[in-house]
Amino acid sequence: MKRLKLIFVVVLVLPVTVVAQDITRLRKIGPVTSYTRIDKGLLLNCRDNSQVQLSVLAPDLIRVRASFAKALPSKDHSWAIAKESWQDVPWTVAETPNEITLSTSELQVVIHRSTLLIDFHDPRTRQLLNSDEQPMAYDADATLTNMMFDPKAGMFVAASKKLGFDEHFYGLGEKAARLDKRRDRFVNWNSDTPGYVEGRDPIYQTIPFYIGLQRGVAYGIFFDNSYRSYFDFGRSSQQRAWFGAEGGELNYYFFYGPSLPKILGRYAELTGHMPLPPIWALGNQQSRWSYYPDTLVEEVVRQYRERDLPLDVVHLDIDYMQAYRVFTFDTSRFSNPKALSEKLGQQGVKLVTIVDPGVKHQPPAMGASQSTSSKPELDSQERRYYVFDEGVAKNYFQKRKNGELFVPRVWPGDSVFVDYTLPDARRWWGDLHRAYLDNGIAGIWTDMNEPADFIDQTGKNQMDVVSNDEGQYTTHAKNRNVFALLMARATYEGLERLQPNKRPYVITRAAYAGVQRYATMWTGDTNSTWESLALSIPMFTSLGLSGEPFVGGDVGGFMGRANGELVVRSYQVFFLVPFCRNHKNIDSYDQEPWRFGQYYEDIIRKYLKLRYRLLPFLYTALEESHRTGVPVFRPLLLNYQDDTNTYNIDDEFMIGSDLLVAPVTRPDVTSRLVYLPRGTWYDYWTGRSFAGGTMHRVDAPLETVPMFVRGGAIIPHGPEMRFTGEKPVSPLYFAIYPDEKGSASTTLYEDDGLTPDYRRGVFRRTTINVTRSGRKYVIDIGQPVGPYRPASRTFQFQIKSHDPLDRTLVSFIDRSVAERMEIR
Ligand code: GLC
Repeated sequence: MKRLKLIFVVVLVLPVTVVAQDITRLRKIGPVTSYTRIDKGLLLNCRDNSQVQLSVLAPDLIRVRASFAKALPSKDHSWAIAKESWQDVPWTVAETPNEITLSTSELQVVIHRSTLLIDFHDPRTRQLLNSDEQPMAYDADATLTNMMFDPKAGMFVAASKKLGFDEHFYGLGEKAARLDKRRDRFVNWNSDTPGYVEGRDPIYQTIPFYIGLQRGVAYGIFFDNSYRSYFDFGRSSQQRAWFGAEGGELNYYFFYGPSLPKILGRYAELTGHMPLPPIWALGNQQSRWSYYPDTLVEEVVRQYRERDLPLDVVHLDIDYMQAYRVFTFDTSRFSNPKALSEKLGQQGVKLVTIVDPGVKHQPPAMGASQSTSSKPELDSQERRYYVFDEGVAKNYFQKRKNGELFVPRVWPGDSVFVDYTLPDARRWWGDLHRAYLDNGIAGIWTDMNEPADFIDQTGKNQMDVVSNDEGQYTTHAKNRNVFALLMARATYEGLERLQPNKRPYVITRAAYAGVQRYATMWTGDTNSTWESLALSIPMFTSLGLSGEPFVGGDVGGFMGRANGELVVRSYQVFFLVPFCRNHKNIDSYDQEPWRFGQYYEDIIRKYLKLRYRLLPFLYTALEESHRTGVPVFRPLLLNYQDDTNTYNIDDEFMIGSDLLVAPVTRPDVTSRLVYLPRGTWYDYWTGRSFAGGTMHRVDAPLETVPMFVRGGAIIPHGPEMRFTGEKPVSPLYFAIYPDEKGSASTTLYEDDGLTPDYRRGVFRRTTINVTRSGRKYVIDIGQPVGPYRPASRTFQFQIKSHDPLDRTLVSFIDRSVAERMEIR
């Protein structure tokens, strides 16, 4: 605990990283002396012996890869990339003395030969989308000093783009920053930053992908380089937006929209689609550092049930282990974890355990014999620790360049980290999770995987730590930022192997691009403050624009003391966030929904119950994310890209395409301004309609979060449940919000929610169209598509408007066939 306080103090006094490299001083690549056509594109040869490769992966996706003063290496590997081979698409090349032009049906890339500048155009509109401000450049003479630069590990490389006068920048993963990143700059260096506030940078994750938006047209850039990287969106100059890294290749992917969803779809194709989690991962979750012993966990669940608060998951933080030894249980606190999981399971509650990367450094005590137990996780590991023993024997732990074991200090004291770049080590780590699954644990929460090290949180102490890295033996200068990605991968693949019939559920704090393939993320050690709550909205929307749809944060904030009002307002945001977990620091006041009195608890209950009623809607939106890469939790601009009023909205969000939420993130506020985009909108609570395209002042007493449904939408609701799967989803109630013409539609997605069968097409989609004809509404339910058969249920339809028609509730048994109904 003292240690945590110390870390907090250190964090507060550390200055925010200064990034002020003058990249104009770098040596520029070029000019182009010749080029050759290669598979999928062009290879440019430069006078300075540099090479640039342009590859056409899709009509709207071009990869740019440069090496400086040397030929491009044949080795080409990234942990982020999910799709390596792309089908050939037509492209052409044309040349003039000054330019080489590579064209696809959607992009025209003009390469200027003498000063090697690359421009991207839309060949159909002739619009210039993005252009180099200076040639790609490198720090040939080590002129840059203002970095954590390790000249032995690499050489600074950078690309600089012209900054548009009205260009907006989105994405870049998890940043403690606003939605539009214009005029800001950032560093990517995964860092343990408890209690971070807006402006603190870097924090836990590295997602070097951003979207530029200008004149309504969007492009994306994914700078796939895991070294410490820098992004400057017009902060240090009026004319440029640049990115660079302290080593590695200048390797980026250029995506063209013009729509944001199209870019997100391609990005998901390139770096991987989020798999569907088990449906209970959308259930309400409760955590605290730490619930123990087992009887306390049972008490928490009992309180939830007695108070009629829905709950699906309880998290066990680090104190369930024997002295923080991962893959063990402290049996003096949890005498029979399997029995506990079963007991909670009967109440519909699952257990998730935290697993840190730090394996206790524990050479065997003199004379201690090796364990032969098939359940070492329950035996005392005081004299020999099976995980340490095995890892040493197999040589899976990271070492320093000088060959010594790397011994960071984390919760267990001296520790070691696994080299997750080794496929065998990943497999071993994954298989170790048997210790949890055998004891009924349902999911794994990976933490501290920046990786945090109490000796030195900056990562400097790790610079000479070597990873195998596919036989290249590179250092943490390159590998730190992918450590969490690979740990999440090892965990996910382990769970998948050990329980092939269940969808894995893995949570991570740190990440690199591609992490969506393996894990849900949460925003780490936030504060129980209004500022932190307000910040969570642009953080979630930005993560969604960075290919991470399954996001969440600690409801109520992690550090410091909340109060009833803050916790209520926090639930009014988080009850619609994909990962909804109330979690609290070890030394803070309790934060479960009932801790501040009945008045607040009643409001929280209302929102948690509504979350469960909205699960059919949320799950449909989550499946859309899985399939299309478009997130559940969206900034308005994602749905209204042609409306510039949405470009800067940080305090509203949308769930899918249909629900707009304008929460209150300040104390003592009972009304607020809400911007509603074009169209008709309905107040979710009253059914009152509002004209869009303008601001409205709406009431927002503590009991009510302003929520609006898009005219034209149908919102499916299930019954109230205490936990997911408690009973059949019946009645399935469709709330219909007609647009100006009286029409509305939706497509509901359903599957078994637990197994990977959905990947083989075992799901069901039901499309519903409503049209007005005179004084009546006609409801057309299409023939359901897909072989999945839900349990028998009743469908209910109701028009939500002030029209007297809305009192009619049409109800009938779903017969899994096309039906036509009328409301008159
Ligand atoms: C880290 C995590 C936090 C957890 C704590 C103890 O600070 O971010 O969620 O409770 O470690 O494991």
